[in-house]
Amino acid sequence: MTETAFIHRFEPAGDAGSPPLLLLHGTGGDENDLLGLGQMISPGSALLSPRGRVLEHGMPRFFRRLAEGVFDEEDVARRANELGDFVAEARQRYGIAAPIAVGFSNGANIAAALLLLQPDVLAGAILLRAMVPLSDPPKAALGGKPVLLLSGHGDPIVPASNSPRLAALFTEAGARVTHKVLPAGHQLSQADVTLARDWIGNAESRAA
Ligand code: MLT
Repeated sequence: MTETAFIHRFEPAGDAGSPPLLLLHGTGGDENDLLGLGQMISPGSALLSPRGRVLEHGMPRFFRRLAEGVFDEEDVARRANELGDFVAEARQRYGIAAPIAVGFSNGANIAAALLLLQPDVLAGAILLRAMVPLSDPPKAALGGKPVLLLSGHGDPIVPASNSPRLAALFTEAGARVTHKVLPAGHQLSQADVTLARDWIGNAESRAA
């Protein structure tokens, strides 16, 4: 697998002190979708933004699903590992540190899988409307990695009990988890942007 196998955008850092971000779009999005969000939450960060390689009725995603909320878990694991390889190669090519993932919806789910399967790839993660991606994940050692999980109280896609389970999974694996449930649905709100920006700008997002 070579990193060119993922169509992607890369924006170099404007400020060497800002952490690089790995931007992971939702179903039907592409590599351009989250560049604006990345710039808003961490101006100056290098931005690495791949396009999901799975097509569902022509819509890019990061892994296959059998139905809404029912994942092809073998594909989740395979695609998460491919994404991990892409990040490792892109880091060499662009000379960047391990990134903080910023994933929305399907992008948040693949980021969650990547954290559990290849914990060294990411410095941390902001997971927007994420679900538990694997029913029986391997025991991960997240060693104090910071994770911000932002859920929507009225999210019609993520069942209310699912995001606390994901938070517990990361906490048990040793991550430093901040979980907030916002008065929102599946779509992002201004509160997501503000909370993500504040989190990334302060010590909560720094690796322990
Ligand atoms: C997924 O398939 O990853 C989740 O259901 C979120 C979505 O893409 O709608």
